[in-house]
Amino acid sequence: EQERKWALVRGRIRDFPDFPSPGVLFRDIAPLLKDPLAFSAAIDLLEAHVRASHPKFDYIAGLDSRGFLFGPVLAQRLGVGFVLIRKKGKLPGLTESVSYTLEYGQAELEVQSDAVRPGQKVILIDDLLATGGTMRAACQLMRKLEAEVVECLVLIELKFLKGADLIKPFPLHSLVQYE
Ligand code: PRP
Ligand code: ADE
Repeated sequence: EQERKWALVRGRIRDFPDFPSPGVLFRDIAPLLKDPLAFSAAIDLLEAHVRASHPKFDYIAGLDSRGFLFGPVLAQRLGVGFVLIRKKGKLPGLTESVSYTLEYGQAELEVQSDAVRPGQKVILIDDLLATGGTMRAACQLMRKLEAEVVECLVLIELKFLKGADLIKPFPLHSLVQYE
């Protein structure tokens, strides 16, 4: 059953060579989002993993913007709240920010200073881990809030870019891996 769901998810990821820049093979999740069975299979797999691995945590925090497609749905399934980690300049009030480089650019992530209290446990989620720059910046933001990153979750991991090494010591769980 898990295997069937995994195949459904993997089968709905589409490849675009040389997007958004030459040499990048873009993994497009639009077909996954359009197929309710594949979309819910992905959420089922993430939910099962989190339930089995992490009995107690406080929030799911999603990374702007594709982490917002999966994080809130997963948080609802797990009965926890959802926290926004946004690209810079989008959040009102006191914020913390961290700049980073990603597979095809440079950016800055931000979180509201009161989003998570010191000592609270957070699971981070995004659609994809490439170089890991984005996820590492999110981990650094959580450290600024003195929150504990329990795990980093992604649907897709581009293994050859070694993003898992960059986000160490925080653990990573991915549904689909590409070598
Ligand atoms: C993509 C993707 C991840 C990040 C991964 O987001 O959704 O967040 O890149 O790359 P990295 O591991 O090399 O940091 P992008 O910055 O393109 O923004 P988007 O989610 O708003 O499309
Ligand atoms: N974000 C960073 N690298 C990516 C890729 N190869 N495909 C889709 N999203 C990405």
